[in-house]
Amino acid sequence: MAKRIEMQICLGSSCFSRGNKEVVLYIKDYLRKNHLDDRVIFKGARCMGNCSNGPNLTINERKIEGVDLSKIEGILEREFGRIKL
Ligand code: FES
Repeated sequence: MAKRIEMQICLGSSCFSRGNKEVVLYIKDYLRKNHLDDRVIFKGARCMGNCSNGPNLTINERKIEGVDLSKIEGILEREFGRIKL
């Protein structure tokens, strides 16, 4: 069975004020539409200590900064494009 991928998004107040709520909704929708819910564990995290560069996301502990709605599709396609159904 393929290894599961863990993705965490910062839910701290600074990242929240920079728009991560919309990013969370986008990611959830993307995972569902592409049948990745079983492969990707997606959860919220406390402040990652990198507020000025947020919203912040980690994928298997690799940090990705400045994740906004204009970038999230490209990030997800790079990560999951080859494994989605
Ligand atoms: S609130 Fe997201 S890194 Fe601090």
